[in-house]
Amino acid sequence: MSDKFLNTYKRTGLVLDHGIGATLYTTDGKRYIDFTSGIGVNSLGHGHGELIGAIARQSAKLIHISNYFLSEPSIALAEELTAVSGYEKVFFCNSGAEANEGLIKIARKYGSSKNPDKTGIVTLKGSFHGRTVTTVTATGQDKFHKYFGPFTPGFSYVESNDLAALDAALVKTTCAFLFEPIQGEGGVKPLDKAYLAAAAEMCAQRDILFVADEVQSGIGRTGAFLACELLGVKPDMVGVAKGLAGGVPIGAILTGPKCSEVLQPGDHGTTFGGNPLAAAAARVVLAQLAKPGFLAEITRKGQRIAQEVLSWHNPLVKDVRGLGLMRGIGVTIPPGDVVTACREAGLLVLTAGEDTVRLLPPLVITDEELEAGLAKMKAALDVLSENL
Ligand SMILES: Cc1ncc(COP(=O)(O)O)c(C=O)c1O
Repeated sequence: MSDKFLNTYKRTGLVLDHGIGATLYTTDGKRYIDFTSGIGVNSLGHGHGELIGAIARQSAKLIHISNYFLSEPSIALAEELTAVSGYEKVFFCNSGAEANEGLIKIARKYGSSKNPDKTGIVTLKGSFHGRTVTTVTATGQDKFHKYFGPFTPGFSYVESNDLAALDAALVKTTCAFLFEPIQGEGGVKPLDKAYLAAAAEMCAQRDILFVADEVQSGIGRTGAFLACELLGVKPDMVGVAKGLAGGVPIGAILTGPKCSEVLQPGDHGTTFGGNPLAAAAARVVLAQLAKPGFLAEITRKGQRIAQEVLSWHNPLVKDVRGLGLMRGIGVTIPPGDVVTACREAGLLVLTAGEDTVRLLPPLVITDEELEAGLAKMKAALDVLSENL
């Protein structure tokens, strides 16, 4: 292990060497089933032939060019992404936080062009929107609000699924309501359909933008292209990132009619965003999602996880939440203990919130890998519950 890194992560001690599908190998030859996908990023798993080929071919042509120019992959990706999502326009960036920063800037320009004070943004308690000063301010969890102030003004927070609280918070000076349709880091908690429908209506009536952070839940993760489709709403704009290019850094803002013309040259930009390499990789992911039956398979595999975990009747398991391959297992012990026990059994999983073990397997995970991973989790939970 090296001591040359800033001390920002409680690292596992594993040094990974290579992977294939949903299986990872360490430099010392240990094998792990991967239910993390690099926190929802490796949508096509590891060592995916078409992705490797597209990256190799594109890197031989152009890796990066700046956003003063277009490239064939970025043009094609913009066309494909707007077509599959049903949005009008796109802005490419590099990460989830950067996508959310852009959403916030569009919302503030939209609001302040109507009324200079219409710049407030309402978010949900328990949310996670990123690590920049503004997106950490948007994040509705106190534990992220230590040390880094002064924070960006204009944010307020309400409880999820509490319509009365939202009604009171959406005032004349609010320009946007920003939400994750399924809170990821906060514990894999989907919002209620009825709440979201009513929230969308409230926002529309008050000329407040209804804005989704689908950085974790988007790009097929839940069995639909966007989780909002499953929850029955169409936001005015959406941020996506993580799984979009299967591991090559990319983010995107997708805009509908109210938001597509807000930004003008000079208002916003990025150096790396949507460069030809990232765009070529993202096109492979979109092509995979478009294959007949692929999204339905994500739904089926997610249901299989939920059914199987519940069938164990392990006393440590409270519930299974989420959609598709974005799953949270509520546990009665610190979730970090389950993560450690799973790792010792050869399975990589994540925590979310205070009481949740989070599963984000590659979207291409096979039934065999799923079965092997679940068997390891069962074994880990059995040992933990016996030792209670
Ligand atoms: C919902 C959501 N928004 C934003 C982010 C921040 O994304 P990034 O780490 O790519 O900046 C994350 C990352 O976990 C996320 O889950």
